Amino acid sequence: PHVLVLHGPNLNLLGSREPGHYGQTTLAEIDAGMQTLAQGWGWRLHSLQSNAEHVLIDAVQEALPLGVTDIIINPAAFTHTSVALRDALAAVQIPFIEVHLSNIHGREPFRRHSYFSELAQGVIAGLGADGYFLALDAIHRRMKRHNP
Ligand code: DQA
Repeated sequence: PHVLVLHGPNLNLLGSREPGHYGQTTLAEIDAGMQTLAQGWGWRLHSLQSNAEHVLIDAVQEALPLGVTDIIINPAAFTHTSVALRDALAAVQIPFIEVHLSNIHGREPFRRHSYFSELAQGVIAGLGADGYFLALDAIHRRMKRHNP
């Protein structure tokens, strides 16, 4: 297994950014925690944060030749705007889990719609940083079911 974790715009500010919505855990802590879990299983895991739509699109396109098996993505504000990033995920056909720290259904109406959810394997929202770990655990449980 080879997992790519993608974080969209402004998630580099986690820890200090609207902690009421996004919690106090930093992105470095999330990435390090996921890396530790993945390494413990003997998996490869790469994380990338970008504020630029094209950088995330390029990373999705490059995931295929790199042999990425699963993607965990928090598209952040691109959730509600980016047909291009959605199309990249549809193009590569790598299964992905959509994660949001906050509950996007309990906030402003414009956050309720996601361009990603109908293509996602599953969506986790509102559980803070735990959502990333739950997503990784879900991939692990699925792999173990398929290759016991
Ligand atoms: C977010 C929710 C989005 O609406 C927002 O634009 C973000 C973060 C979340 O993790 O809760 O930047 O994806």
